[in-house]
Amino acid sequence: MIAPASTQQKAEKLRAALRSHDNQYYVLSEPSISDMEYDQLMQQLVQLENEYPGLVTPDSPTQRVGGEPTKEFATVTHDVPMLSLSNTYSDEELDDFDRRVREILGSEKYQYVAELKIDGVAISLVYRNGLFVQGATRGDGTQGDEITKNLKTIRSIPLRVESGKSLPKNFEVRGEIYMTKKDFDTMNRKQEMLGEKTFVNARNTASGTLKLQDPKIVAMRKLRMFTYFLRTNDLTMKSHSENLQLLKKLSFVVNEHTTICKTISDAKAYCNEWMVKRSSLPYDIDGIVIKVDAIAQQQELGAVAKSPRWAIAYKYPAQQMETTLNAVTLQVGRVGTITPVAELEPVFVSGSTVSRATLHNEDYIRDLDIRVGDTVFVEKGGDVIPKVAGVNKKKRSKSSTPFTFPKKCPECGSRIFRPEGEAAYYCENFECPAQVRGRIEHFAHRRAMNIEGLGEAVIDLLVTTGLMHNIADIYSLKKEQIASLERMGDKSAQNLLDGIIASKQLPFGRVLFGLGIRFVGEGVAKLLADHFSSIDAIRSASLEDLENVEGIGPRIAESVFRFFRDTHSLKLVDRLVKAGVQTKSEKKKIAGRSSVTGKTFVLTGGLSSMSRDEAKEKIEARGGKSSSSVSKKTDFVIVGTDAGSKLQKAKELGITTISEEEFLRLLK
Ligand code: IVH
Repeated sequence: MIAPASTQQKAEKLRAALRSHDNQYYVLSEPSISDMEYDQLMQQLVQLENEYPGLVTPDSPTQRVGGEPTKEFATVTHDVPMLSLSNTYSDEELDDFDRRVREILGSEKYQYVAELKIDGVAISLVYRNGLFVQGATRGDGTQGDEITKNLKTIRSIPLRVESGKSLPKNFEVRGEIYMTKKDFDTMNRKQEMLGEKTFVNARNTASGTLKLQDPKIVAMRKLRMFTYFLRTNDLTMKSHSENLQLLKKLSFVVNEHTTICKTISDAKAYCNEWMVKRSSLPYDIDGIVIKVDAIAQQQELGAVAKSPRWAIAYKYPAQQMETTLNAVTLQVGRVGTITPVAELEPVFVSGSTVSRATLHNEDYIRDLDIRVGDTVFVEKGGDVIPKVAGVNKKKRSKSSTPFTFPKKCPECGSRIFRPEGEAAYYCENFECPAQVRGRIEHFAHRRAMNIEGLGEAVIDLLVTTGLMHNIADIYSLKKEQIASLERMGDKSAQNLLDGIIASKQLPFGRVLFGLGIRFVGEGVAKLLADHFSSIDAIRSASLEDLENVEGIGPRIAESVFRFFRDTHSLKLVDRLVKAGVQTKSEKKKIAGRSSVTGKTFVLTGGLSSMSRDEAKEKIEARGGKSSSSVSKKTDFVIVGTDAGSKLQKAKELGITTISEEEFLRLLK
């Protein structure tokens, strides 16, 4: 149904109003109406567009609330690679950079632009005829994920830009997606209130959010964007600083602290200024970026490997906070490894509160001379795991004494020992409750035997009440025993029993992984299960037999060999076999060859009759291989709904493509 002219006008008015409010709020940082009033306007527009779907335009603000989930992101190749920056950490290195620039530019005059290095995620936006048509992540610099739908939800990204004589219509913009410290905290507080997991820091949240497949959730997280790059053939581009002005005219957000530096000394002063002021910014930065301003000079300077010669990053050290080390406790892992942990006076570091941090091992504590009661520096590494980076010795109390590593396991009181050449201590008691709990937790884990209802708390109860000493005991548990535990009624006991029974159907590879043999992760367990027909075959395999399995090195082979020579382990294995868990490979059960046997399949897009994992299992159960990328070795590409770039690749390589229906027929 076509909307009457008055309705069309009304819709256009609402759109213009919403666009202007977005601009006021996200670009100019001067909100013009309340959130509630904004939501009401949006609601009116949504209603009109629902009534008359013909009214929807690709740049309507309603398109920001997120459409249907994406099954798989397509891959896009960047027209011009997205380079990264070389890092520097000192004034001397900045001088070296300036010297290199001067050597190449000779007697030419040049100036720099200095910008804050926003701690976010780099992305690229492509506009055609003024409309935002494609957004992508940096990926490996050459190819990234196409995340247009997610980026459309970000209100500081214009869906359409103004047109004008001196404004480009076809161009690419690059910049950084980030979240403010305040929005991050508010979001985390909400998560806490809902009893949900909190996020580690703003950068990771922004990056994780962009990879979400449901744009509706992306729309709820308040992501923003600063832009710092423009490329177009519509105009001649003279300088980076002019490009930034142009970006502003196009309604993109350019960071307000960007400045021109006539000399490298000015740039150094800028770096120092923001080193001090960075904590007062409403978002995280991890350094400064210094760029040669003139585009012609940038081109003259070119790039080495993956970084341009015309720009450099000056990185700030990780932010450290001081706090008191209240105690050092020991954590015991499932193989008995003892890890010292710092118990800290809670302190806010780079976006979250830290009260515990790893101290790695005895040598680490000794090398840094860390003592209980010390004022220590806490920081988050690139992997965001908090660590104690040093001690403020000026604040050390006179009565403090060096830390001595305990001699006993904190869990069972047994002796602990440090094998020669290793940094870690181990608890010698195989029956140590911490190890017992750890082994059972590993066996019951989602990726191993996936026993629902057998989480940390229940395992703790079962071990402390003496009902469980090892993984085999799981299969002798009685309903009355479980129901008699604290907070465990009849119903939860039955659920747990159902979970235990269901686990008996899981494939042999999962059981092998669940045994917790050292160095045997999920992948290795599967390799072993595929290669040997049964647990008996692995048990009687020689060290050489094990080493001959493709993908198994001598270290793993020896660990597996030892495990199956240990009487303790063998007893457990016997009990598991008796309990009825799968100890034979499914693969060996295949009767005869099928048309799938020996063929390699790649799936692109989603299937309606099964999940991706199910499809993989079905292919493998019939002796076929399932791979994640298309190559000349691929026999078939199964084309599901929303097929991605793999379909394109298959066409290029001339690989046979089949529909879901044809795939189902092959399986039969
Ligand atoms: S310029 C070739 N400017 O830093 C030029 N990058 O370490 C490449 N970044 O991938 C980028 N703020 O994610 C540039 N003002 C800024 C930046 C910035 C943050 C990030 C960006 C880039 C990384 C390089």
